[in-house]
Amino acid sequence: MRETITPARSVSGAIQLPGDKSISHRYGMLAAIADGASTITNYSTGADCQSTLCCMQALGADIERGTGTVSIRGRGLDGLRGPAGMLDAGNSGSTIRMLSGILAAQRFDSSIGGDESLSRRPMERIMKPLAAMGASLEAREGRLPPLTIHGRPLHPIEYTLPVASAQVKSCVLFAGLHADGKTTVHEPVRTRDHTEIALREFGADVDVIQRSISVTGRARLEARELTVPGDLSSAAFFLVAALIVSESDLVIRGVGLNPTRTALLDFLAGMGAQVKILEVAQTGGELIGDIQIRKSAVRGGTLEGDRTAALIDEIPVLAVLGAASENGLVVRDASELRVKETDRIQTIADNFRSMGLEVEVKPDGFELPGRQHFRAAEVQSFGDHRIAMAFSVAALAADGPCVVEGSEAASVSFPEFFDTLRRVTQ
Ligand code: S3P
Repeated sequence: MRETITPARSVSGAIQLPGDKSISHRYGMLAAIADGASTITNYSTGADCQSTLCCMQALGADIERGTGTVSIRGRGLDGLRGPAGMLDAGNSGSTIRMLSGILAAQRFDSSIGGDESLSRRPMERIMKPLAAMGASLEAREGRLPPLTIHGRPLHPIEYTLPVASAQVKSCVLFAGLHADGKTTVHEPVRTRDHTEIALREFGADVDVIQRSISVTGRARLEARELTVPGDLSSAAFFLVAALIVSESDLVIRGVGLNPTRTALLDFLAGMGAQVKILEVAQTGGELIGDIQIRKSAVRGGTLEGDRTAALIDEIPVLAVLGAASENGLVVRDASELRVKETDRIQTIADNFRSMGLEVEVKPDGFELPGRQHFRAAEVQSFGDHRIAMAFSVAALAADGPCVVEGSEAASVSFPEFFDTLRRVTQ
């Protein structure tokens, strides 16, 4: 699909966003291995989180999708059953990596794969710790999906993550949930902690001491009624849109404000953005609140080290902001971007060049001068949801209408993106 985006004068009004993708995956998986019926309100409408539900359904969970709510009757920790065919994770790295931790501990064999993009993403990072727990996994060329998983009883381990990855941490903790004893993961930097919070919500015994997280295995999980906060990573597109389009004043309601995710708001504020948190509450152990953003002069900056890891999903749209900022943006320590849904360093650079912008590509990031002129152009999603949405935002500040080719990719995390964008742009 091709979406035409015309330049905007203002991004204003109030919006609400679909449920957080990361939290939805975790609730979907944990509800399926809990005892009883869970109800999840504002479950992500994105295709990735639907892939998780389809996998859990194929494993025997009873799932009903209502308007705005998903009901999941779980099968208990040992109640999943062998799927009839290959499990399909679609485009979703979270689904394949986190679910593998559960599959490795089952009494049945299974295989799980996905689309062309997912089939290129590295899986050694989960295969290594799972093998240390006694799991038996095979992968294409020893490291790529699809995975064949021979379920067997696992033993607890203590594991230090070589790369900062919440997906890998979650995979090991989910496997540990099935092992007899205490499994501990040590993180090099603190990554999003939705798994720790969700495990506790479902009744598991989780200890967190600084960057070490332990789960005690064999606990019985109990069904819950939960509400998923709006996705801050989806909000990022609208925050940047409001910052680069004159006369903007936007409120985003009910957004997840978990402190392991809000580095985005700190980074924006540090660059000079007028961003305010209006009201904060708690739901299911997660913080949720409203964010107000106004058009502001943004200075630009440098993203490196731990901050890069904390903002990894937001870098495509922060790049757009960087090119429009006073002093530009330098991104370092971001080689993980090369193994996301696309090689995002390359796809960001390709689209910028199509729009006539200057960008210097490095092995682990890029450098963008500031105050750049965005020329009307045809840009590509390359099948990557965050690239589709980031460059739709760039198009709002272009000197004429732009076409986003492959715009349907946005539906991987945010099917309502273009409708929402049309509602707030004038
Ligand atoms: C996610 C973790 C991050 C992030 C992804 C979602 C999660 O991936 O980029 O979009 O929900 O745990 P990594 O674990 O590969 O860093």
